Amino acid sequence: MDALSRYLDENRDRFVEDLKAALRIPSVSAQPAHREDVRRCAEHVARHLEAIGMTQVEVVHTLGHPIVYAEWLGAPRKPTVLLYGHYDVQPPEPLELWTSQPFEPMVRDGKLYARGACDDKGQVYMHLGAIESHMKVNGGLPVNLKIVIEGEEEVGSDHLETFLRERRKDLDADVIVVSDTSMLGPDLPALSYGLRGILYTQIEVVGPARDLHSGEFGGAVMNPANALCTIVAALKDGDGRITIPGFYDRVRPLPREEQEALRSLAFDEAGFLHESGSPVPFGEKGYSTVERIWVRPTLDVNGMWSGYTGEGSKTVLPSFAAAKVSMRLVPDQDPLDLVPRLEAYVKQLAPPGVTVTLRDLHHAPPFLTEPDHPMLQAARRALERAWGKAPAMIREGGSIPVMATFQKTHGLPCILMGFGLHDDQVHAPNEKFSLTSFHGGTRSAAYLYEELARTP
Ligand code: BES
Ligand code: MN
Ligand code: MN
Repeated sequence: MDALSRYLDENRDRFVEDLKAALRIPSVSAQPAHREDVRRCAEHVARHLEAIGMTQVEVVHTLGHPIVYAEWLGAPRKPTVLLYGHYDVQPPEPLELWTSQPFEPMVRDGKLYARGACDDKGQVYMHLGAIESHMKVNGGLPVNLKIVIEGEEEVGSDHLETFLRERRKDLDADVIVVSDTSMLGPDLPALSYGLRGILYTQIEVVGPARDLHSGEFGGAVMNPANALCTIVAALKDGDGRITIPGFYDRVRPLPREEQEALRSLAFDEAGFLHESGSPVPFGEKGYSTVERIWVRPTLDVNGMWSGYTGEGSKTVLPSFAAAKVSMRLVPDQDPLDLVPRLEAYVKQLAPPGVTVTLRDLHHAPPFLTEPDHPMLQAARRALERAWGKAPAMIREGGSIPVMATFQKTHGLPCILMGFGLHDDQVHAPNEKFSLTSFHGGTRSAAYLYEELARTP
């Protein structure tokens, strides 16, 4: 066994301890009460980057949460890698559904449980373990490396674009590497060459000037909650197709070869559906489950509120109703082109007696990269070395807002080498990361830097 692989083996338990230390910091970007924890987490990651030998380590303050930057440029004539990840996490609520505390990481049955274990601290720390291993064994890295770890990914990466633009010259690179996606299954490594974009909106319906007695006024005036249901129900038809005029205009049809490639993947559809807990699949007619989640757009209500939702009953005709409605987008849909279309449509659907407004809460374009690029082939070799089998080439349904920005600001090939699994419960109670994924991912990252150094 070579020295690098030996170092990776000998230090695997300590790598888990390093990750646990980061997981103990509740860096919940969405909640103002955790603002100081988010900052503390940035400082913690920065100190770790220094400790493993990265240089120019900086906690960059923004109008939102800080960005951690570090570099190591000691490999002249070798490629420069820009590694991106996020140290912020989703809120842990509902707390009562966690078996162990979200910010007290615990290993059970070979899996590490904590908020952020997989998304994305666990996947960031795989790279930090890989970097440390190279530094210790070889006195340096096989490539030049620039690291950007942000604290606002889970809330839409609002202040990252400014940072990337302001530092554009310093952030020159040859390839972008991100580990914040999934494997095709346990022991089935994957590279993701596409992600869906997102348009997240809020529909607000205002009716009567104040709440009314539903006996006194009910039946004589339009109820905003009923009106909102009418609007929301009309956004999708019974075949799962979105009815917003022009919504599909820019959807790029799937080339036949890609359709066949997706069909031949070892995607565990039964396992996926089982994991969802839904008794039957439902989606756009004429498409497979894989197509529905990876290459077709969708629209979902994420939350809805109006009137009385407490215990028992209250006879009231609410004056206000609202819904959070998100759309996942695919190439070449443009969220900015869709906002006015949706706005006009919900206004047109609104029955008389209510006023409807649409708010664009955040959006990110879809992402697609060249799957055969030599840089991706290097990633394929790295995964093959680490897992003993070639990775599947997949697309995914989630969104990483910065990916489209990188394409705009850098125009580089992007390696999305992720190790999540469908049952990792990301964004939900009992988030976990399999230690097999964590250690395999660390090894993959270590080999990736070597393989990238071998690209022409
Ligand atoms: N790591 C995920 C993105 C992801 C999830 C990629 C599943 C592939 C598969 C990321 O942290 C995330 O949750 N993104 C948000 C973005 C949103 C808040 C703008 C998402 O997809 O909802
Ligand atoms: Mn993530
Ligand atoms: Mn996430």
